[in-house]
Amino acid sequence: MSAQHFSIEEPEALTTTPRVARLVLGVCGSTAAFKAAALASKLTAAGVEVRCVLTEAAAQFITPLSLAAVTGRPVENVFWSQQATGEIHVQLARWADQMLVYPASQHTLAKLAGGLCDNLLTGCLSVFDGPRWLAPAMHETMWSQPSTTRNVARLVRDGWRLLGPDHGRLADASEGRGRLVEVHQATELVLHALRSPQRDLAGKHVLVTAGPTVEPIDPVRVLANRSSGRTGYALAAAAWARGARVTLITGPTCLDAPFGVEVQRVDSARAMQGALEGVYPTCDILIMAAAVADFRAKHDASKKLKRNASITLELISNPDLLAGLNADTASVGSKPLRVGFALEDSDLIARAKTKMERKGLDIIVANAPESLEGELTRTHILSADGVSERGPESKVAFAHALLDVVSSRLP
Ligand code: CTP
Repeated sequence: MSAQHFSIEEPEALTTTPRVARLVLGVCGSTAAFKAAALASKLTAAGVEVRCVLTEAAAQFITPLSLAAVTGRPVENVFWSQQATGEIHVQLARWADQMLVYPASQHTLAKLAGGLCDNLLTGCLSVFDGPRWLAPAMHETMWSQPSTTRNVARLVRDGWRLLGPDHGRLADASEGRGRLVEVHQATELVLHALRSPQRDLAGKHVLVTAGPTVEPIDPVRVLANRSSGRTGYALAAAAWARGARVTLITGPTCLDAPFGVEVQRVDSARAMQGALEGVYPTCDILIMAAAVADFRAKHDASKKLKRNASITLELISNPDLLAGLNADTASVGSKPLRVGFALEDSDLIARAKTKMERKGLDIIVANAPESLEGELTRTHILSADGVSERGPESKVAFAHALLDVVSSRLP
């Protein structure tokens, strides 16, 4: 499992919310329906209460028993129940915080676009007025049908949120667009969306940097640091879930790209600087979470250095990327909101305040070196509104807390 699967690695991700988050997971007939069991299992392990609703076609591909076993809850698939003591679709809609259809078939998309409601899934989706996500899966030729294009456009206009489909290997072994979004990406999205359902960053372009930068010594060796990149990746995923367009410029990490985010991969500080200069002028919000290497080797050997000689490595300073980006650069008419981090092992707050002024920041996050690698993080968020002390908490929880501050400071 990759390190990004924080739903499992950070099972406290949702337990600090006032009560357990609740998701209705709809499943349609599709070869990809088996992935719903993996998603339901991961979300349940992360503390989400999941109730699955299957269409009749879905039950041809996956049994209710599998989903009941992984969620610990009975699966609903009967609209016209004789036993029900009320309207089950209304009860489910009242119960849920969010609804996700994973996978959503061409047929169900068409029904929802047309307002048809002839089974329990379309019934509870029609009653529900909270955030509703659709993760389509179908063959490329079905996805590219003019009718599907029309239906999807209408659903998006009506406020449904779309998750995929991806381009990749399809059920008949062909390549194309129509592949269900991967389980880990859907898991991450649901956890972010449940934590913060608002779309307060819609229309904003958020630029996030993450991870370490690595500086070459020779063709095989580098100077690196201990940053895992998790904080920056969590911020990018959180900003996308809150409606932003997100560009993530990342140094080398072992993390998978978050869903929906445009990723630019770089290695050295100077490569990150080049990428930043390309994107910064159009961003509304810059979040500089990368642990940029402060030094690089003065001479980058073109041939591998031999072990038999002892060597002295002369280091020179890298540019300060954040300070070098003009705080007044106009992004679509206004100055970008700038967020930086301060990694300090002493005098945390005083030093962070100095850095905030020196680098022209609106918000600075002060943290200690332990936060670089750990699962949990302890921070102080400083802005003109004062200092708020946080944690220890998951990086997902921290990401939303920081975006709450960002959001409150937007013009
Ligand atoms: N940063 C940067 N360019 C650098 C170093 C840091 O843009 N060469 C950014 C980081 O991404 C972070 C902020 O500046 O948002 C502060 O980083 P930090 O390492 O705490 O401070 P430094 O500026 O490197 O200062 P020092 O190491 O002397 O404390």
